Amino acid sequence: MRATTLFAGLAAVAAVSASDVVDLTKSAFDDFVGDSPLALVEFFAPWCGHCKSLAPHYEEAATILKKDNIPIAKVDCTVETELCSAQGVNGYPTLKVFRNGVPADYSGTRKTDGIVSYMKKQSLPAVSDVTAENHDEFKGADKVVLIAYVDASDSKTADTFKEFANQHRDDYLFGLSTDAAAIAAANVKPPAVVMYKTFDEGRNDLEGAVSAESLYEFAKEHSVPLLDEISPDNFATYAEAGIPLAYVFVPSTDPKRAEIVKALEPVAREHKGKVNFVWIDAVKFADHAKSLNLQEPTWPAFAIQSIQEMTKFPLDQSKEVNHDNVAAFVADFVAGKVKPSVKSQKAPVQDQPVHVLVADEFDEVTSDDKDVLVEFYAPWCGHCKKLAPIYDTLGERYSNVKDKLVIAKFDATENDVPSSAGFRVTGFPTIKFKAAGSGEWVSYEGDRSLESFVEFLEANATNDINSPDDLDAELEGETEVKSGRHDEL
Ligand SMILES: *[C@@H]1O[C@H](CO)[C@@H](O)[C@H](O)[C@H]1NC(C)=O
Repeated sequence: MRATTLFAGLAAVAAVSASDVVDLTKSAFDDFVGDSPLALVEFFAPWCGHCKSLAPHYEEAATILKKDNIPIAKVDCTVETELCSAQGVNGYPTLKVFRNGVPADYSGTRKTDGIVSYMKKQSLPAVSDVTAENHDEFKGADKVVLIAYVDASDSKTADTFKEFANQHRDDYLFGLSTDAAAIAAANVKPPAVVMYKTFDEGRNDLEGAVSAESLYEFAKEHSVPLLDEISPDNFATYAEAGIPLAYVFVPSTDPKRAEIVKALEPVAREHKGKVNFVWIDAVKFADHAKSLNLQEPTWPAFAIQSIQEMTKFPLDQSKEVNHDNVAAFVADFVAGKVKPSVKSQKAPVQDQPVHVLVADEFDEVTSDDKDVLVEFYAPWCGHCKKLAPIYDTLGERYSNVKDKLVIAKFDATENDVPSSAGFRVTGFPTIKFKAAGSGEWVSYEGDRSLESFVEFLEANATNDINSPDDLDAELEGETEVKSGRHDEL
């Protein structure tokens, strides 16, 4: 019955499309989401890159989910502006799950499998009833499945489990069994909760009475694979874990990959909860290896990253990546005996108007008695190149007060910003200022003209940075040069 109405609705709005993704317009939207017990809608813009990479996965997922009568739709926000603003869409793509018209954020991945798994979980009750008949099938129905085995009279355990399941229905698949035959098949003494998973040891048991906390700890500890592959899809999970992340860099095509990774599992197990371990495709993510100060193409390689502290600890690449070397290195790391690696160029002779700052002398040059302005740049960055002549002029302007004000540039592709700086550089150019005595870096957000820089420095510098020279005349001269440039842009 339900499927029939659903398909009738789909046919009406999707008549022209061969795809299983329904194109929704404002007029069809309310009926479509209102009539569906469960639906997924993407709000997109045709020019959005992430939307384009999602598209093939979204199409595939739609075709698979069609069999479960879960409709998948999309709304072009460049056309349906009113609808998208009414839905509070302020970025693309925005995905929302609708239950009988009521929206909730979609928090699954943007890959076919992830979308299918997420929506299937949404379509089931938070906790499914498990009996001897469906026990085997249910155990293997997802990557991680939690089943509680309880006596029929034990409503306390059942309620605790159901409440937990309601909160975590997006994360895991939950089943509850009071069937003696299923309990016997699981070989547990109720009450017990068993996690069935498609990786590592395959099964973990939590015996005895449960609480919301013990369930949470149990699920968190065992649901992350001991040594999984990391990719942009699951990176956030590790970044948010709040503990250091150890990477084995190995090409995914290396015939010995599985063997190399397997050999490190005991090390990962020993440090479980203190350091997360992953392996990563060294070829595809060579840039990430480089950012951890590993040189290609010496694979396999090993490095630990503290995402919170922005520090990195590469294992000396002349050492083989094997159990013993990695075990010793990680033990030293955990004991605080390994110094973070900071990439730095050699400090050059300073013969330019702008101080060429390198990581090794960062703390010394940016000491607290001076006002400091630093441009973090990349040699290939176009905006940085445009800024260069203006920045040089700024350096010249203050060249006779160098003991009070440092105008510096920092090649962030060849130097690591030391963790003492307390910020991360994510775009170029990034311009930061620290007033003498303040100890605090602030971002320079003004426009990149000489006047704006001068105005900013004069207002914000602690030291007296005005030299007795006839600077105004000089400044006026340079301003003309600058505005000439501006016309060319
Ligand atoms: C001084 O610095 C602050 C940021 O700390 C900035 O908002 C302000 O615009 C600066 N003053 C001038 C005149 O540029």
